Amino acid sequence: MSTALAPTIPPTHPAVVTTAPRAPLATLTVPTVPPGPGQVLIHVLWTSSTPLDLHQADGGLLITHPALMGSSYGGVVAQLGPEQPRDHLRVGDKVFGFTFRGDEEKCHQTYMTTDWYMVSKLPEGVRMEEAVAVSVNLVTAFHTLTADFGLELPWPVPAGENRERDTPIVVWGAASSVGNYAVQVLRHWGFENVVAVARAKHHEYLKELGAKVCFDYTDGDVVEKVLRYVGEGKEGKPRVPYVLDCIGSLEGTLKKIAELAERGTKVAIMLPVIVKHATEKEAPVYEMDVNKVLPGAWKEGVELKGTRTHFYLQNEFFKDHLQSEIVPALLEQGVIKPNKLKIVEGKTMLERAENARQLLRSQAVSGEKLVWRVADE
Ligand SMILES: NC(=O)c1ccc[n+]([C@@H]2O[C@H](COP(=O)([O-])OP(=O)(O)OC[C@H]3O[C@@H](n4cnc5c(N)ncnc54)[C@H](OP(=O)(O)O)[C@@H]3O)[C@@H](O)[C@H]2O)c1
Repeated sequence: MSTALAPTIPPTHPAVVTTAPRAPLATLTVPTVPPGPGQVLIHVLWTSSTPLDLHQADGGLLITHPALMGSSYGGVVAQLGPEQPRDHLRVGDKVFGFTFRGDEEKCHQTYMTTDWYMVSKLPEGVRMEEAVAVSVNLVTAFHTLTADFGLELPWPVPAGENRERDTPIVVWGAASSVGNYAVQVLRHWGFENVVAVARAKHHEYLKELGAKVCFDYTDGDVVEKVLRYVGEGKEGKPRVPYVLDCIGSLEGTLKKIAELAERGTKVAIMLPVIVKHATEKEAPVYEMDVNKVLPGAWKEGVELKGTRTHFYLQNEFFKDHLQSEIVPALLEQGVIKPNKLKIVEGKTMLERAENARQLLRSQAVSGEKLVWRVADE
């Protein structure tokens, strides 16, 4: 059963789309999709641009052109479909979230339609532009730590000590958006031995977020320093049981992590592996199979996992609770600090999207999230 659009809602609206690999983005007029049972129609006011937008626009990763883009939104509930399983949303509510399935829930458009469980209510005291910087990679942190590492993140957080309190967990590329949220989630769930690897300028902030110790990846001997810090492995376990590669760059991260990992180390790698970064002149090269990169470089028994957060809904508990309940609660309680923001300016939605793409392409993003206004009104 689908509903008709409320009379105040435009039947069509603008969306930013890719046109061809590395070609300028364009604006397309697309239909506004009425919300079906359990769905929510949202007027999108803010979004963020993430590396995935660049991987898609420049590298055509997992899309065919023209493609709608954008996976984080902040906006206002414009219409509710029938049969809402929870009575927690009203027309006019300020909301935010992470979506990634069909065109109707892409976020670089002024209206989007999604399911109730992909919607978080904006807590009092949190700005919408801060919230759009949160969901994609906070959900990524939950998904990776549980699905790829098998760690437990029970909700609500139980009282008492975490059995893995002292286990070293290396977060490589911790200054990234993914890294910032992983460090904060680990701290909140009682993992106290988080080893963050990032440029020195981020170290103080990462300690505030929950890192116990930080190392600089630009140091030639960073791997030795990490190994010296962790010492001997306990009870036959590897010295570093978990490495979260928040970047997935063949040259930038994986070659060093391959030196660090040993039998039994679980290495979770953000896909795609970036074999060659996009530049002004050249197309990027990506690889989705972690077992195909650096053959021969990994020690026997290292467990490589390619992270794909787009599968997080397979966890039924996270599907029903993560965005509708846990993410807004953590923000409201101040447990999670949003990424630092860089507001991308431009006269139109298209110009702002294009400016954000240029910043991503030139690798100008350091410890900040690119956030921009979608609808002008
Ligand atoms: N497959 C999935 O489920 C999934 C989910 C989320 C993200 N991702 C992918 O994960 C990657 C990161 O996403 P993001 O949004 O977190 O990116 P981001 O915040 O834009 O990343 C920028 C940060 O990356 C750090 N960085 C760059 N090269 C590095 C290197 N060689 N070593 C250590 N740090 C380095 C920089 O740190 P410094 O300032 O210290 O240089 C910079 O602060 C992207 O490729 C994205 O597509 C995948």
